[in-house]
Amino acid sequence: MGKMRTQSAPWRAAAVLASVLLVGGVAACGNSDTGGGAKDDGKITMGFSQVGAESGWRTANTTSIKESAAAAGIELKFDDAQQKQENQIKAIRNYIQQKVDVIAFSPVVESGWDTVLKEAKDADIPVILTDRSVDSADKSLYKTFLGSDFVKEGRLAGEWLVEQKKSATGPVNIVELQGNTGAAPANDRKKGFGEAIAVNPNLKIIASQPGDFTRAGGKQVMEQFLKANKQIDVLFAHNDDMGLGALEAITAAGKVPGKDITIITVDAVKDGMQALADGKFNFIAECSPLLGPQLMDLAKKVHAGEEVPARIETEETTFTTEQAKEALPNRKY
Ligand code: AHR
Repeated sequence: MGKMRTQSAPWRAAAVLASVLLVGGVAACGNSDTGGGAKDDGKITMGFSQVGAESGWRTANTTSIKESAAAAGIELKFDDAQQKQENQIKAIRNYIQQKVDVIAFSPVVESGWDTVLKEAKDADIPVILTDRSVDSADKSLYKTFLGSDFVKEGRLAGEWLVEQKKSATGPVNIVELQGNTGAAPANDRKKGFGEAIAVNPNLKIIASQPGDFTRAGGKQVMEQFLKANKQIDVLFAHNDDMGLGALEAITAAGKVPGKDITIITVDAVKDGMQALADGKFNFIAECSPLLGPQLMDLAKKVHAGEEVPARIETEETTFTTEQAKEALPNRKY
C-alpha cells in the first residue's frame, strides 16, 4: 500500500495503461466467440435461406433483404431453396459449418425443423424466422419471428366478402386457390377466411386446391375449377400471383373477372394492385415483403446479445379498387 502511494506520476500512468490494455485484451478474447465461434472481426455475417422466387412478393422480399444487408454493412450469404424444404435444411447446415454469426430464413413449410434448429442452437448460432414461422413446440430454437399475421389477412378477406354478400338470398359459390401445401400462409389464410365467412351459411367454399403461390399454378387450377363447376361466384386466391394466373383462365372461359366472378387476393404487389385498380380484382389484403430493414436491425441486436421480442408483427392494411388507384403511384413493390 505504502509503496503504491509513493509511486511517481510516470509509473502510475504506466500501471494504469497496462491494466487498461490487459482488461481490453481479456474483453476482446471474451468476444471472439460470438455468433457460433466465428472470429469477431466486427462484421456480422448472415446466412439467409429464401423460399424461392415463386411470386412478385418473393422477388420484392429478396430485393429488400439484399439491399438492407448492404446498407447495414452485414455480409449476406444468400440461398434460393426453390420451394424445397430439403434445400433449406442443406443451406442452414452449410451456414452452421461456415460459422456465420446469424441465420435467418423463411420456412417453406411449417413442420419438420426441430433437428436442424437444434443443430444451430448447439453451435450457438442465433436463428431469426422471417416472413413465415415454424410449428416447433420448443420456442428456444429461434430468437424471434418477424412477419405478418396470416390468419388476420384471411379473416380481413372473409369479412369483406361477408359485407358484400350480406343481402344474398341464395348460395354464393366460392373457389379457393391455396398456397403451397403445409406453408404457414396457406394454412393460416385458409383458417382466417373460413372462420370469417362461417357467419353466413350462404357463403360456401365449393372447391379448394393448392396453386403453389405461382401464376402458372393459379391458371392451371382455375381452369380445372371452371371445367368442374358451372357456377363460380367468388375466387379467393392466397396471393396476387395465383389470382393473376386465374384471370387468364377466367377470361379464356368467356367470363369477366371482377364482375362475373368476384376476386379477392392477398399481397398487394404492383401487378395485383393494377388488376384491382382496373376492376379485375375486387379486394386485396396486404402482406408486406419489405422486411429487410427490420431483419438487419434484429440481426445486430441478437448478435450483440440483446433481448428482442419473441414476435414482431408487420403492419398491414387492405385495399378496394378506389384505394388501389390512389396508392398505386407510390407503391414501392
Ligand atoms: O409467405 C408470404 C407469401 O409467400 C406471399 O403471400 C406469397 O406471394 C409468397 O409466395
